[in-house]
Amino acid sequence: MRSAISLAALTLLLRGVRADSTEATEATILDPTAECTPYNYPPVANVISSFPPLWEPVASVPTTDPGYAKFLAMNSSIPNIAPKGTNGAPSGVIDTYSASDPDCWWSSSQCVTPKVAGLNPDIATMPEPLTLGYGFDDGPNCSHNAFYDYLTSKQQKATMYYIGSSVMIWPLQAQRAAADGHEICVHTWSHRSMTAFNNEQAFGELWYTMQAIKLVTGLTPTCWRPPLGDVDDRIRYIAQQLGLTTILWKYDSFDWKANDPVVVPPVTPADVQKNYDNLISAAASGTFNTAGAIMLTHEINNYTMQTAMDNYEKLAAAFKYIVPVGVGYNKTQPYVETNVTQPSFQAYIAGSRTGASASASGSGSAATNKAGVAGSGSGSGSASGSGSAAQATGKGAGVALRLSGATLVLAALLGGAALVL
Ligand SMILES: *[C@@H]1O[C@H](CO)[C@@H](O)[C@H](O)[C@H]1NC(C)=O
Ligand SMILES: *[C@@H]1O[C@H](CO)[C@@H](O)[C@H](O)[C@H]1NC(C)=O
Ligand SMILES: *[C@@H]1O[C@H](CO)[C@@H](O)[C@H](O)[C@H]1NC(C)=O
Ligand SMILES: *[C@@H]1O[C@H](CO)[C@@H](O)[C@H](O)[C@H]1NC(C)=O
Ligand SMILES: *[C@@H]1O[C@H](CO)[C@@H](O)[C@H](O)[C@H]1NC(C)=O
Repeated sequence: MRSAISLAALTLLLRGVRADSTEATEATILDPTAECTPYNYPPVANVISSFPPLWEPVASVPTTDPGYAKFLAMNSSIPNIAPKGTNGAPSGVIDTYSASDPDCWWSSSQCVTPKVAGLNPDIATMPEPLTLGYGFDDGPNCSHNAFYDYLTSKQQKATMYYIGSSVMIWPLQAQRAAADGHEICVHTWSHRSMTAFNNEQAFGELWYTMQAIKLVTGLTPTCWRPPLGDVDDRIRYIAQQLGLTTILWKYDSFDWKANDPVVVPPVTPADVQKNYDNLISAAASGTFNTAGAIMLTHEINNYTMQTAMDNYEKLAAAFKYIVPVGVGYNKTQPYVETNVTQPSFQAYIAGSRTGASASASGSGSAATNKAGVAGSGSGSGSASGSGSAAQATGKGAGVALRLSGATLVLAALLGGAALVL
């Protein structure tokens, strides 16, 4: 019996299921393969069955979920705008959509001033001159430590738009954003086109991402960015009812398209660099002398993060200030929970980085778990196993997580088994 379990556990180890660690230990790993090796994290594994399947469009909100009553309460007042597709997949209606843009549909017109009364305008620029609203979509990337270390070395905070499914798969990486004092916003559960969901699904894409971030960081975000910028007044209404400010952008680095073989015509790293350079020269030539800019950039992969690092000093020279979006708007309370704050714009540019967490030292050091989120147990460090981590992305990672969740007991037994081995 015992040796059977040991064998099973050993097999899992060889497949790359690494031992538990904490945010602080995870943050010290710099080998991307080790960083992206799946691990078991009981606070997530214990409740994963009450979340939707990872990386799949949210199908519905069960009547037993606390979100359901919240959804029903708002459903009858959601603007009566037809979904522009099914299940998060666009229908192509954009080709026949009215030029008068009745829905303030960003995908069609880049509209950021809602037509429906009572909706707040989106954020797409920065109020202060020569200020860059700095942020990254599609995190947490499992192998983001080198990038987050770089930001910390520059005492630079940013707005991180996290995908709910990725937060569930890489909870320690998500905790790092909170520990480092970045501003965390919602980037939906499955990264589909939001206007192509029905009301309940759109609600669920936001709701479950908020719950995922709350689960792993203890914090409930108050901002979101629609994947692909795909938002209209129906979706804005749902987000606003959930307490989320909509953040878009006006410039796109197109880093997310680079090196992707299915993109036609291809976007090359040189094209992306040109987009960064154009923003930098626009700043130099006075384009942002009355209001600052937001550019779309990503933490999707090594290339996008490296490109952000390669351009940081140039951006810092071209712009007077680089701040998280919320900081530029004096949003000193970025979360529902009031124990975590961030500096006002004036305080940030005067050098303050604290206020980002109750116990922050100001240096953003990753060596301590400033988020105060409960650790996950054995803390046995960065054992990477010997398995391939190449599957740790997208749906593959979902499978990997379910594997590690299902093997909770075996993982717990591993300590004993290791003694035998
Ligand atoms: C929510 O509203 C939509 C549009 O009016 C309707 O089709 C749907 O059935 C409603 N959902 C629930 C759960 O009542
Ligand atoms: C803030 O409060 C939340 C909820 O009470 C808690 O989970 C979190 O750890 C706290 N964070 C800090 C940095 O104190
Ligand atoms: C993170 O980045 C690595 C390195 O580029 C990439 O292989 C991986 O697919 C990304 N994973 C996630 C979850 O974003
Ligand atoms: C990119 O990958 C290389 C090699 O694996 C690694 O040394 C480097 O730190 C990574 N860069 C980032 C920004 O993650
Ligand atoms: C932020 O606060 C400063 C100082 O009070 C003020 O000048 C500025 O207008 C505020 N910015 C916004 C967007 O409210």
